[in-house]
Amino acid sequence: STNDEEELSDEFKELLLSLPKERGWRTPHIYLYQGFWCQPKEIQAIINFQQHFQARDTDLILVTMPKSGTTWLKAMAFAVLNRKSSISKNHPLLTSNPHDLVPFLEYKLYANNQLPDLSMLPQPRLLATHVPFASLPASIKNSDCRIVYLCRNPLDTFVSSWHFLMKVRPETLGPISMEEGFEMYCRGAMAFGPFWKHMLEYWNESLQPPNKMLFMKYEDTKEDPVFQLKRLANFLGVPFSFEEEREGVAEEISRLCSFENLKNLEVNQTGRSIGYFENKNLFRKGVVGDWVNHLTPSMADQIFQIMKGKLAGSGLEF
Ligand code: A3P
Repeated sequence: STNDEEELSDEFKELLLSLPKERGWRTPHIYLYQGFWCQPKEIQAIINFQQHFQARDTDLILVTMPKSGTTWLKAMAFAVLNRKSSISKNHPLLTSNPHDLVPFLEYKLYANNQLPDLSMLPQPRLLATHVPFASLPASIKNSDCRIVYLCRNPLDTFVSSWHFLMKVRPETLGPISMEEGFEMYCRGAMAFGPFWKHMLEYWNESLQPPNKMLFMKYEDTKEDPVFQLKRLANFLGVPFSFEEEREGVAEEISRLCSFENLKNLEVNQTGRSIGYFENKNLFRKGVVGDWVNHLTPSMADQIFQIMKGKLAGSGLEF
């Protein structure tokens, strides 16, 4: 199974023994590696990624916290870069899940101690990761490659994570109550957390010259997808031409990548693209503010207080 710590190398097991650990969400434990919490197999993959990935100046790297709209961002970036063919009739997004078109560096390419041949990927290479900024391989920071970060309000991200967990947590691990999950989330103990550290590192980086990073928000994109698609296209170096503006290409991409459209495609109802996860679990509600239906006022207040404390003075707001 994907949760099996027995599949890990002996050397890596040694390392794990030296790391702080917590009860896991999808695996028996998560470990604190380089200041963020992560599952064992992913830490092993991240080390492989850190040691072997060589960024190119033309690379485009999409970054998110889990459950903050990764699937959507992958779809939008892929569609912005691949808009030559007729979008509505035979676009790859109509028959492939976004995770098959834009691979994760840690979950896919560098998983299981593989050394992938990335020269096979189409140019520019469009890749994705959840790894915090501080732990990205040096070549990503030192090259001219570009990074897009999609950030989501932490209350909705928790609710989304919680529902996802309910569907994918192995029964053998026993239940985790919502209260317990919430308490862990607030302490930062969830995959790639603490959430405030993850978003703040990328936020601060996006404020630095040169223009290497684009910071996007899930909420802004829901509100005005066309405007955000234009920002994204400009940043990726493929702005919409005057003619494309007139033809409404950004509007067309917005519809192609919309929650309703992607969710209802056969590939997303029946396929599996990331390990054993069913694609349909990647599409739940796709709205802003669903937290009001799931969190008590006191839970919400707890997250607001954390955000107030941790994000104070940063300029990052929700
Ligand atoms: P909800 O659980 O709040 O519905 P990720 O892709 O990072 O795993 O994030 C999953 C979240 O993004 C889920 O949120 C999912 O429904 C939502 N989502 C997936 N596709 C989307 C789309 N095309 N537009 C908007 N939200 C989308």
